[in-house]
Amino acid sequence: MAKIIGGITTSHIPAIGNAIANESFEDPYWKSFFDGYPPIREWLAKNKPDVVINIYNDHGLGFFLDKMPTFAIGAALEYQSEDEGWGIPALGAFPGAPELSWHIIEGMVADEFDITSCQELAVDHGFVVPMQLFWPGAPNNPDMPLAIPISANTVQHPLPTLNRAYNFGKSLRKAILSYPEDIKVVVLGTGGLSHQLDGERAGFINKEFDRMCMEKIVTDPEALTRISRRELVEKAGAQGTEFLMWMMMRGALGAKVKPLHQNYHIPISNTAAGTMLLECTA
Ligand code: DHB
Ligand code: FE
Repeated sequence: MAKIIGGITTSHIPAIGNAIANESFEDPYWKSFFDGYPPIREWLAKNKPDVVINIYNDHGLGFFLDKMPTFAIGAALEYQSEDEGWGIPALGAFPGAPELSWHIIEGMVADEFDITSCQELAVDHGFVVPMQLFWPGAPNNPDMPLAIPISANTVQHPLPTLNRAYNFGKSLRKAILSYPEDIKVVVLGTGGLSHQLDGERAGFINKEFDRMCMEKIVTDPEALTRISRRELVEKAGAQGTEFLMWMMMRGALGAKVKPLHQNYHIPISNTAAGTMLLECTA
């Protein structure tokens, strides 16, 4: 049977993609950010997941404001990364795991989650930058697992609630654990932490709120489900709503997790960057 070995999180700021392309790892602006990744890469190299469920938010490449699924799951053989205007190189195709995708979609629809299934899906920086951070050279890293993209709407209101995101993760967990193949799955939540890119509060960052989220996501994720969407925008910024994907990831890990590593760095571009590794204990 399939096993979920842990969860990883990272911000997905496009500037990171450019810093990787320019190999700015030792640059003083970037160093303490990139230093947050080797311990997680070591854990991945040791534990060798077969599949990564990459939970991100599409920002207008795969979907646009005319059609915006609340939750979409990729069910393709591969996912193309494309030029989305940030100047980051398009990296080609990321191989998928369509059999597991359909198993998850069937399980979650039976569990009464209304899923948009995507047999073709271009993936943007929200998906691609985290793959590059955890598997350098991706998609040409032989240790990179097969990937299944799951996109949540954090772009156009009404957004799903944090409670719905957490319950989505719980249903995703049930679906993965019922897959009959002996595979190891890691769940990746991308985006956040606090940031606002436009309007009067452009540049808004809330360290205290981010720190609280990083603590409670380990010890008491249920408490975070009680934060309303309005409060989330107030406290985390308009784009800080990307924390929804962290909650989806957390729901998939089960009740207890062991926090093995974390890093918090402000700012990268306009965003507070948070990185975590949570190992499943059951
Ligand atoms: C930035 C952050 C994001 O999450 C994003 O999707 C695009 C840009 C930024 O801080 O520049
Ligand atoms: Fe984003």
